[in-house]
Amino acid sequence: MILVTGGAGFIGSNFVLQWLASQGEPVVNLDKLTYAGNLRNLEIVRGDARHVFVRGDIDDPELVAQLLRDHKPRAVLNFAAESHVDRSILGPAEFVRTNIHGTFNLLEAARAYWGKLAGEAQRTFRFLQVSTDEVYGSLGAKDAPFSETTAYAPNSPYAASKASADHMVRAYHHTYGLPTLITNCSNNYGPYQFPEKLIPLVILNALAGKAIPVYGDGQNVRDWLYVDDHCSGIRRVLEAGQPGEVYNIGGNCEKANIDVVQTLCATLNELRPAAKPYASLITHVKDRPGHDRRYAIDASKIRRELGWKHAQNFAGGIRSTVGWYLANADWTESVTSGEYQKWMSANYRERGAAA
Ligand code: NAD
Ligand code: DAU
Repeated sequence: MILVTGGAGFIGSNFVLQWLASQGEPVVNLDKLTYAGNLRNLEIVRGDARHVFVRGDIDDPELVAQLLRDHKPRAVLNFAAESHVDRSILGPAEFVRTNIHGTFNLLEAARAYWGKLAGEAQRTFRFLQVSTDEVYGSLGAKDAPFSETTAYAPNSPYAASKASADHMVRAYHHTYGLPTLITNCSNNYGPYQFPEKLIPLVILNALAGKAIPVYGDGQNVRDWLYVDDHCSGIRRVLEAGQPGEVYNIGGNCEKANIDVVQTLCATLNELRPAAKPYASLITHVKDRPGHDRRYAIDASKIRRELGWKHAQNFAGGIRSTVGWYLANADWTESVTSGEYQKWMSANYRERGAAA
């Protein structure tokens, strides 16, 4: 079996569902269930004996050691993290604790466990760190996309915490020989994404007739990948990646934020027409401090060496994502309760957009 952390969050839950549907191998899922973790994401596998959910912290040494001892996984995949840049700006401490210290704790536990394995089990064990393109910093309009050899230059507390974790993972391979893999992926979108992130936030604000907040001039560029493709890329890296190596995952899909927002509004006009076009709700608001201008991923290494390529295009991915949010209003209602309202007013009041 494998041990997945953060498997009740957006990407982790999509990964667990895809894994169980396609591989059949059991999963132990360790998740603290922070505001971003939600067992409703895993409803499809409720009662499935191949899925063992454990509520707990990756930064708890006894718990992690016990899970490794009891379940003897062949791999640890670390999705657990504080993941929202704006939250890291308003409160970075939890990012240091979970993303840096939590990853360190997992590495220590994995090192002790792996050290006691023998023969084939030790040779084939993997520790896979799910990381982000934000560790590489910000690109100018004409710069080449991030490759695996681009120097780290993280700009937000979130990006710096992920970069620190990646450095520890690298060090554990270099120093102790732990068979590690790191994936650096670009912006994901799709079902079960918490509506603090751009795409679900736009969909929900639009449906509620609220202002759609676009930071700054809306010309910041992100490189979008449908979440199922990220999950299939991780599976491929786990299956065939070389220990100690880094693989960038991306879908070659750069878009300015304002174009993403316009596409979402046009899709909503079609699927859920309202009295006025949704684009009339677009409101430019105060920019994110230190806002990275452009991300772009060069995914040629994973294509060349592991034969992986994304399957979903942006138009299809956005259509199915909007369709999912329209069809799952009960899910969105369950995650947009009191805590969410507090975040919306903390982040947007100062920016001048109605939350
Ligand atoms: P998310 O915020 O939706 O989910 C994070 C999950 O981790 C939640 O279920 C939460 O409860 C859990 N968690 C948080 N702290 C924990 C702790 N101390 N112990 C155990 N569980 C804890 O995040 P996401 O968007 O699904 O991102 C998953 C991973 O992918 C992160 O490592 C993130 O850095 C990385 N990533 C995200 C994107 C993206 O676009 N969302 C892109 C590239 C990489
Ligand atoms: O690049 C990978 C990263 O993508 C992941 O590592 C992060 O976990 C994930 O949150 C995401 O980070 P971003 O900061 O790029 O995502 P976010 O959805 O917060 O913002 C996307 C872009 O949209 C960014 O340029 C900021 C802008 N934005 C965001 C929000 C929430 C707005 O214009 N308005 C908003 O209200």
